[in-house]
Amino acid sequence: MGKRIAVVLAAGKGTRMQSEMPKVLFPVLGRPMIEYVLDALREVGVEKIVCVVGYRAEDVQEALKSHDDIVFVQQTQQLGTGHAVQMCLDELKSTDGSVVVLAGDSPLVQSSSLGELFEAFEADGHACLLGTLKRDDPTGLGRIVRDDAGVFEGIVEEKDATPQQRTITEVNMSTYVFQAPRLVEALSRLTNDNAQGEYYLTDCPKILKGLGDKVDALPVLKACEAYSINSREQLAEVERVMAEIGYNKS
Ligand code: UD1
Ligand code: CA
Repeated sequence: MGKRIAVVLAAGKGTRMQSEMPKVLFPVLGRPMIEYVLDALREVGVEKIVCVVGYRAEDVQEALKSHDDIVFVQQTQQLGTGHAVQMCLDELKSTDGSVVVLAGDSPLVQSSSLGELFEAFEADGHACLLGTLKRDDPTGLGRIVRDDAGVFEGIVEEKDATPQQRTITEVNMSTYVFQAPRLVEALSRLTNDNAQGEYYLTDCPKILKGLGDKVDALPVLKACEAYSINSREQLAEVERVMAEIGYNKS
């Protein structure tokens, strides 16, 4: 097992939560949602967690100050998930190991899935491997585009997708593993030429594939990992799912 580090995206305001509290600090069964993500990372042996903060950064840092494996990086303007990871360049350049990138708003991420993803990644020499799953209702999520033979081609955001691409049910849950130097390479090539005018992290796999790297998407995620939190309704839904699978209220 090589050196593993993580990047956790937590700079967004979470506008759809309709609150001044940064989204990643919202309690889910009594704990800030980001803490579940941090737990899962530690369970797979991640040595360092680079946490990208922006909106009310001081509050997020204060809430996480007892975690001494976290390095905070500032993203003062939220120009997209790819831009958020670009803020971590110094940290990424300091390692040639693997980097797992997760979103702080997905507390149902499972360490077993991350473990599976890392194992496949390290065994098969990928530059980038992402975890996916199929969802009956893919609304709002990035879709996984494959060719007729099922070979991974890229991720398309819903707002950029054609009507036909919107019918795809395999979705991106922002669960990526990259070779750090290849992630640095992909980040240097990102543009914001898309429907939202943002630098999308979701473009990185396709960029690397275009450079001849080995890139793939594996449907290893479990049904419960289909949930991320963008609204209060989704927060309640996640709490229901957690209760079902036996997370304890703390
Ligand atoms: C993202 C993915 C989408 C995926 C979905 C669920 C992109 C472009 N899209 O969309 O494919 O299906 O997550 O996993 O990545 N953030 C920052 N800085 C920014 C923007 C976002 O730190 O400039 C953070 C947010 O705080 C959040 C996470 O990144 O924790 C995801 O951002 P969000 O706006 O929720 O992305 P989605 O639209 O859900
Ligand atoms: Ca989200």
